[in-house]
Amino acid sequence: MTKSLQPGMVVARDILGPTPAAVLKRGIRLTQSYIDFLDRKGYIGVYVSDSFSEDVDIQEVVDQQLVREGLEAVQKRNIGDILGVATNIVADIYKQDNISVDLFDLRSYDDYTYHHSVNVGVYCASVGKKLGLTEEEMVYLATAAICHDLGKSRVSEAIIKKAGKLTDEEYEEIKKHSQYSFDILHEDPSVPPVVLQAVIMHHEDEDGRGYPFGKKGEDIPLFAKIIHAMDVYDALTSKRPYKEPFAPSEAIEYINNNKGILFDKKVVAAVNEVIPAYPPGIDVTLSNGEEALVLAHTFHAMRPKIKILETSKVVDLSVDQEYKDIDIVASDIMPQDFAEEVERLNEERNHIRNRKYTVMIVDDEKFSRLVTKEALWGRGYRIIEAGSGKEAIEYIKENRSPDLVLMDIQMPGMDGVKTTKKMRELDEELPIIFLTAHADVDTVVRCKSVDAMDYILKPAGPEYLRKRVDYAFFKIEEHKIRNRLLNETVDANPID
Ligand SMILES: [Fe+2]
Ligand SMILES: [Fe+2]
Repeated sequence: MTKSLQPGMVVARDILGPTPAAVLKRGIRLTQSYIDFLDRKGYIGVYVSDSFSEDVDIQEVVDQQLVREGLEAVQKRNIGDILGVATNIVADIYKQDNISVDLFDLRSYDDYTYHHSVNVGVYCASVGKKLGLTEEEMVYLATAAICHDLGKSRVSEAIIKKAGKLTDEEYEEIKKHSQYSFDILHEDPSVPPVVLQAVIMHHEDEDGRGYPFGKKGEDIPLFAKIIHAMDVYDALTSKRPYKEPFAPSEAIEYINNNKGILFDKKVVAAVNEVIPAYPPGIDVTLSNGEEALVLAHTFHAMRPKIKILETSKVVDLSVDQEYKDIDIVASDIMPQDFAEEVERLNEERNHIRNRKYTVMIVDDEKFSRLVTKEALWGRGYRIIEAGSGKEAIEYIKENRSPDLVLMDIQMPGMDGVKTTKKMRELDEELPIIFLTAHADVDTVVRCKSVDAMDYILKPAGPEYLRKRVDYAFFKIEEHKIRNRLLNETVDANPID
């Protein structure tokens, strides 16, 4: 299970060590210097053995030495080496009967691009296998997956690493990276067209709103669809300068919610079978209050096999009738600094009681609402949640308007922009901030058309989100003061 590390704990899974020779092998006892190293590298969790985790079957999907070779090949942009690594990764995955991939414990947030490339390669090969690809096809898929972002090396580092919101121009610049990846690979005559095609289209969306071509569903090649889904999964679960990592369960929920919009339905089904939302070895809390340990992945991503800690009873949540209405509500893989942040905010909340603004969060994704809510903790805001546009409008009709609305754009039924239009019919001055995973020009233009106060890219880090909301209230206050002054001026100097 992932825990705060103490010297003497035993590593349950291999971890990449400080030098190529030093893979921290399963079974090794942690020393303080290893722990310091892991801390520095930004590992957000490590599997350690204890008496409870004996029943947990933790397997290595690919050899960690191979992962290291992959990182080096990507760093050097050596296509021959990448192909070699892809072949070996596929060989590892191909021979396994039941693959359940979880790289969560191995995640480190420096060298993001290299880790990201190799991770996406492993994920894609696994999903490809589930979809019935041949070993040769899997090698091409893994190669394309490892190479998908090579072109980012041609985009200015200042833009790639920028922590705040990108300008339209900067975003246009970033969007060129899939073309650049294609160009780099195209220079090498040994790279087959199927790889080139997958690389250039890895940001195409099912609904035709992706880039660079805006192709829809059937017109997007399967390899590109797989890379697209796993690219987003890995980006969400990674720590980035502008955001905290999402838990695997949140990323899986996000992918499922965007089925048919961003991602292909068949690909999503395969992802659900291969990538566990709750990896074996982690602790979870159930909606009935019981604590449990995850033992194994099942065909249902969100419902693993678990062991109840108090009774030691083993329950397969994917089939157990007694537990059919009970869900997992929390897990211990929330990164530590994030948990500390929440704690700090909780304390702060007790001190701030004078601000009574009401913030409404409109989002169809429960986890997304939770993340936003957590970010706003401690600010003394009264939070109202709405799971759909309809719900939000009904609330406004029955109660008074909130002081600020945080609006998701992509929602089934009535989307955020349409909901905003309806809300404005009821309250024309209602301040709205859009939260979206899409930053394409089209979306920006639609948001501007309804006069949004701000526009925040999801997933946003709690600090960033809080700052934007605080700033919004500053603007709202300023607006009120100006209006008051203006009215006073008009009253004092009647225009006749
Ligand atoms: Fe990309
Ligand atoms: Fe990527």
